Amino acid sequence: MHKKVLRDMDSLCAEAAYDFVQIISSAVDARGEAHIFLAGGNTPRHFYKLLASPPIGNSIPWGKVHIYFGDERNVPPDDPDSNYNMANRALLSRINIDPLRIHRIPGELTADEAALAYNNKLKHFLPFDSNENPCPDLVLLGLGEDGHVASLFPDTDILNNHADFAAAVWVEKLRTWRITITYRVINNASNVWLFVSGESKRDIVDRVFNYSTSERYPVERIKPRGKLTWFLDEAAAQRIVK
Ligand code: 6PG
Repeated sequence: MHKKVLRDMDSLCAEAAYDFVQIISSAVDARGEAHIFLAGGNTPRHFYKLLASPPIGNSIPWGKVHIYFGDERNVPPDDPDSNYNMANRALLSRINIDPLRIHRIPGELTADEAALAYNNKLKHFLPFDSNENPCPDLVLLGLGEDGHVASLFPDTDILNNHADFAAAVWVEKLRTWRITITYRVINNASNVWLFVSGESKRDIVDRVFNYSTSERYPVERIKPRGKLTWFLDEAAAQRIVK
């Protein structure tokens, strides 16, 4: 586990953009293409805009990248709540990438139909290891104040789903369905990034770093076979050793 604490969101995004280019180019050198999962929520929006902007945007071989999503709300792709919609506005519509390389979660279907369709899509496009586990190059995640990542929320059955790559989950406290990848995808990634910014995340970061709570929080079950990196700004990292 690595952590990078940067002064603010601008410097956090600049640091992450540099590492992002490294991950893409080493994946393309090794396997001819890269497989990247994007996060939803608000925190990564600024980062996506930076990835779409020159010079960074021009230095990424988007023609060799497959883009996936960690989770989605049960809404159509043009809905303001859609994670695809957010990423499309901030990044995908502004880069030269083949639409056939953008693998969004069909949130417009029922949650179960969307999860089934996405499982099939992941099986079709992702690289797999000899144990039939998916091997993405990077999974980008945000962090909720309750310790959820993607739509892996505390006290939901999906936390123990180690069979599927993606599944539907009813989130009681939000009274809504979500579709999310499972730990089977996240923990088989070469790189997992947690993007955490702002004072509102200070308490959860404090609890996870300073008070090990034996996997009480979904984020604590992130134990990838590859490298886990926390990108934090100082506001979120106030109570941890830098
Ligand atoms: C979602 C996300 C979710 C998000 C966290 C943090 O669909 O909402 O995938 O896991 O990353 O809730 O959200 P913010 O970045 O908006 O604080």
